[in-house]
Parts: sequence; C-alpha cells; structure tokens
Amino acid sequence: MCGIVGGIAQRDITPILLEGLRRLEYRGYDSAGIAVLSPSGTLRRLRTLGKVQQLADALEKEPISGKLGIAHTRWATHGKPAEHNAHPQICADRCALVHNGIIENHERLREQQRAAGHRFTSNTDTEVIVHGIYDQLCRGKHLLEAVQTTVQQLQGAYAFGVIDAQHPDCLVAARQGSPLVIGLGFGEHFIASDVFALLPVTQRFLFLEEGDIALLHRDGVRLYDAQGHPVQRPIRESQQLATAAERGPYRHFMQKEIFEQPRAVSDVLEGRLSGNRVLPEAFGKDAPAVLPAVRAIKIVACGTSYHAGLVARYWIESLGMPCDVEIASEYRYRPVVVPDQCLFLSLSQSGETADTLAALRRAKQLPYLATLSICNVPESSLVRESDLVLLTHAGPEIGVASTKAFTTQLVALRLLTQVLAQYRGDASQGTLDRLRTLPRKLEALLALDGAIAAFAEALVEKEHALFLGRGEFYPIALEGALKLKEISYIHAEAYPAGELKHGPLALIDESMPVIAVAPDNALLDKLRANLEEVRARGGELFLFADDAVEIPRQPSLRVLQLPHAAPELGPILFTLPLQLLAYHVAVLKGTDVDQPRNLAKSVTVE
Ligand code: M6R
Repeated sequence: MCGIVGGIAQRDITPILLEGLRRLEYRGYDSAGIAVLSPSGTLRRLRTLGKVQQLADALEKEPISGKLGIAHTRWATHGKPAEHNAHPQICADRCALVHNGIIENHERLREQQRAAGHRFTSNTDTEVIVHGIYDQLCRGKHLLEAVQTTVQQLQGAYAFGVIDAQHPDCLVAARQGSPLVIGLGFGEHFIASDVFALLPVTQRFLFLEEGDIALLHRDGVRLYDAQGHPVQRPIRESQQLATAAERGPYRHFMQKEIFEQPRAVSDVLEGRLSGNRVLPEAFGKDAPAVLPAVRAIKIVACGTSYHAGLVARYWIESLGMPCDVEIASEYRYRPVVVPDQCLFLSLSQSGETADTLAALRRAKQLPYLATLSICNVPESSLVRESDLVLLTHAGPEIGVASTKAFTTQLVALRLLTQVLAQYRGDASQGTLDRLRTLPRKLEALLALDGAIAAFAEALVEKEHALFLGRGEFYPIALEGALKLKEISYIHAEAYPAGELKHGPLALIDESMPVIAVAPDNALLDKLRANLEEVRARGGELFLFADDAVEIPRQPSLRVLQLPHAAPELGPILFTLPLQLLAYHVAVLKGTDVDQPRNLAKSVTVE
C-alpha cells in the first residue's frame, strides 16, 4: 500500500527520503516519486514507474537536492500505474503532496475544481487535495491553515504530507484513517507511513491520532487536533533496530522469515510462561480482571490473520466457550448481535489493516466486555486502540506473504486458550510443556527444506491446485493455498476434505494436484477415505503426513513424513512445510517472491 516519507532538515534530504522509500518497499507499490525544494526555491520532482531503484537511477542522472522534501511509493487505487499518476502530485509548480488512502468524494471535488479553472494531470483521487490546498494558499492562508480548511472538504481516508515553495521552512502532514508517524530528530523532523522508514535517522516518534494535523519546522513540531486546538501526543521510543530487516544470507525475505520461525516462536513464549501456567498479565495489566469474566469470543481479521482465527475457534470451542470468527470487511458493515460477556479479539500482523481497524472501532461502540488485539507491531493503531494486547514479537516481516507472523499468532492464540483454560480449571500441563519444545520441532521441520523443494518441482508447471485438510487443519489448508496463489500465481483453493464430494471432486483429473495434510488425529481415517476418492479419479496426491501415520506407497502419491506433532500443536507445525512449498514453487517460477504483483503488505485502504 502507498508509502509516505518526508522531512525538513539542515542537510540534504534526498538520500534520507530515498532510503525511507527503500524501507517502505515491502508494503507493495507500482511507482515511486520524490519532490524536493531546491536551494534556489524551486520545486523539483521526479517520478518513475516500477521499483525504487529506478527512481534512484533517475536521480543519479538528474540529481536533485534540498533540505525540505517528500517522497512516495504508490499502490494504484484510482488511475492505472503510470508516471503521471505517481506522487507527489503538484499544483502550479508550487505545492507538492503525497497521499495514502482514498478520497471518496474526489469526483465531486474534481468537478468543482475543474469549473474553477484547475487543470488535472492525473487520474488520481489525490490530486483534488493539492488543488484544494493551493486554492486556500491563494487566499493568503498559511500552509497549516490551508490544510486545516481543505481537510474539512475531504471524505474518506488519508494520510498526507504537503510542502509549498512559498513556505520553505515547514512541512504539514495530516492523518485521518491511514497511518502516519512523526519522527523527531535534532534540528530535523520527518514524517512516514511507519517507523521502519525512519529508523536510520531516529528512534523517537509521535503517533498522530485521527484528525490530527502536524506542522513541522526544523526546530520543532506542533500538533493540532481535528478541531484545530494545539495538542500534545506522547513521545515514544521505538525498540526496533534499523538493521532488524536486512536480508542477510537469504535469497528472499520470505525465506529468511520462514527460517526465523524457531526464534520468533521462542520470542513469543518468552516471559509469558511461569512454571505450570501462562501469565494472564501478558495480555495487559487489566487482563487478570477481564479474562476470568469472558464467556464468549468474537475474532475478526483479514487474510492470513483470519486463518489464524479459524484455527483458534477449534481450540477455544474445545474448552466449551463459544467462539465466532469473521472477516473484518464483512463484520464492519453488517448488523451484529453481541453475546453476553464477549471478548472482541482482532488479529493483525501490521495492526494497520483498514478493515480490521474499522471493525475494532465499531466493536468499541458495542457492548463487548473488552477488546484484545494480537499484533506484531507495537506502535500500530490496533495496539494503541485496544484495551488488552498481546504482541507476537516476530520481528519485522518484510515479505508480503505472511509466514512468521502467522505461526506466532497461532502460538499467541494457544497462550490465550491456555489462560482461559486456567480460569476454567481445565488447563493441561502437557500442552505447556509441549509449547516449550515448539522451537526445536520447527528446527526439525526446516531440515526438510530440500525434500520440499523436490515436491515443488512437480508442481511448478501446474495451473491449479487443491488443498485439503480436516478440523483445525482445514484453516492450515486455506493458508497453504493462499501462500501458493499469492506468490506463485497458481490458482489454489482449499476445502475441508469432507466437502470434496459436494462439488470440487468434479475438478479432479490427472492435471489437478491435490495437496493434503494428514496429522495423527481422530479424523485420520475419514481423511484417508477422502484421499481415496481423489486417487480413484486419477488425481495426483501430495501428502504431508505425521510420522506416526502409516501411508502405503502407491503410484501418483507423493508423501513427505513430518516429525510427530501433538494434536494441539499440529496446526503450527504443519504450516511450515506448506510455506516452504509455496516459496520453492515461486522461486522455480521466477516470480517476485517478496513483492508479488498487485499485493501490498499493509492494506491501509478499504
Ligand atoms: O497485517 P494484517 O495481518 O492485518 O494483514 C491481513 C492480510 O492483508 C494479510 O494477512 C495477507 O493476507 C497476507 N499477505 C497473506 O500472506
């Protein structure tokens, strides 16, 4: 999704902006651009289609420098990816603006501005903002006032930064519905879509709240709330290291993040277990008062995080507690009934997913007992706005395809299940002991990398694939299919194996690979019968089976035996081979593994 970076400094801002854009690349984008106020006071802009490196190359040929500037990576929503649609958008060679979000009333504003004589050079919804600000400047307003007046006409979501050649000593930024942080330096200040972009220049941040507008000078930052009143927001020190997201010896970030899972899982457990129990305080200081009162759970999330929620439903309902899981974009717009004493739980890697955030904000208006978020980004909006929080401590996840964020979410959800079980007097010591051994088990699975790469060779030419699982392994099949489709572009679907004969069996022939997960659990015999249905129709089976499961060797059946997994931890362990499978297929196909086409890491618009 679009990435913003900007700053006002006493040194050349261009290299800082370029590095910021590089650090935002993981969000997904199709074009990039930069605008800097040159020492002579003219606005210089450069935009390129494609990667940030192309912008860097263009800057080599046509260098621009200055001490005030803004830059952007664009993920197209309105108007195709093209240089003229890339940001910064400018007006009258005077104001330049970068934006993340969607201006819903842009068509009406565009008509009005056209009638007033503005000429549009892009198809973006963004351009109306910069024309609107310019109109206010022409009425003699200061840049801050011009922004304050213009935002009153905007409907939708935005985070933007704007500079004006006639206000060379300031940068103004605004936030409503899309993320924006202010980075505090010494004699220099910055804006960005996330802290990660600014870690090379500062560790100190201000997080804008909804409706806030920031005025940045070299010697200070002033914040105003939606009503225009000066406000203070707390300064937060980021604990993240600027180097935390380097690729190291790995070929791709996704590969690195898959291999980091033993460490990430150990970090999510760290400090949360004591003797024979999970510490309720791990979920926040109010958790020991709130969690014993929970009688039902509502989980809301998107994409991979939604799949983690689906697994948790099996775990939580096995305690006898009702648990419902829903996709955030659906939940936010439908009438809902809130059960008594229900905990609202949002799951998100980024904590900035627009639909999940909107769902949380809606939930806060409803009679839930409390809101809890399980999230990987400590500074995110979701974390700041939830009553209770459990951080997954997976470290920055750069690959668009979520891997370690998913497994750490599952571990966090297992911890939640365990705490709830403790209050019900139903907690299993065995589960806790086994949780502690998870990192080692994950290491053992990583040793199968070569064998999984061989599986991948047999899949690379396929156009479709069907994933099967049963019970809590059905969401794992869903996650396996999502991984394969998003990075290899092979059409993949997942079904609960028992559902095969109700339709998808019609698709099975020798060209349709079927990838199934076979844990050692009570549904194994039923799964075997489902797999026979596939084999009888000539389907090619790829089976990931628990070591304890006996599988007679047969033609058109490829089996990879996995180290034995206890039933309650199986979903976490079986995920890893499916991630590696998708990874190797994508590598063989030569796709852009870390930044697959059309996708964004952090989906900050609806
Ligand atoms: O940051 P979130 O967990 O809220 O993101 C939700 C989805 O956009 C995300 O999980 C997406 O499905 C991943 N790219 C899947 O790999």
